[in-house]
Amino acid sequence: MKDITIKKDIELLINTFYDKLLQNLEMKTVFEGIDFKSHVPQIVHFWSFILLDEEGYKTNVFDKHVHLPIKLHQFNIWLNTFIATINELFEGEKAELAKQRATVLTHTFKSKWQKIKEE
Ligand code: HEM
Repeated sequence: MKDITIKKDIELLINTFYDKLLQNLEMKTVFEGIDFKSHVPQIVHFWSFILLDEEGYKTNVFDKHVHLPIKLHQFNIWLNTFIATINELFEGEKAELAKQRATVLTHTFKSKWQKIKEE
């Protein structure tokens, strides 16, 4: 198995990830109304920025989620699906970094989510 080295790898990762995630009906509901044609390039840009040092990603990612009907436990489903997809497709330093970053970000999202949704 190869590592994540070019943008095409990230496109494969994200497309495979969404194929899996959207099989879960509970998760699919959250993505109703999302135009994947414009969303996928954004999330690919984000991961290219993290893993391949691509420039120009400046979006506040957490803020992009605040309006969505996400339930706290769904962050675990998101993360497990993301990690499972990476393990299926890639192996190496960048693959490990992607899993590590996704894990940390999910924990940060969860604690921020708890705070804002409690208020
Ligand atoms: C339950 C978990 C999650 C769900 C259901 C979810 C869902 C979504 C949806 C529907 C969008 C599109 C928002 C829009 O365009 O209006 C989005 C954007 C995005 N999400 Fe998530 N997300 C989750 C967790 C995460 C996590 C943990 C990360 C970070 C590792 C992440 C990274 C992103 C990025 C980078 C974007 C694109 C922002 C942009 O437009 O530049 N998401 N997410």
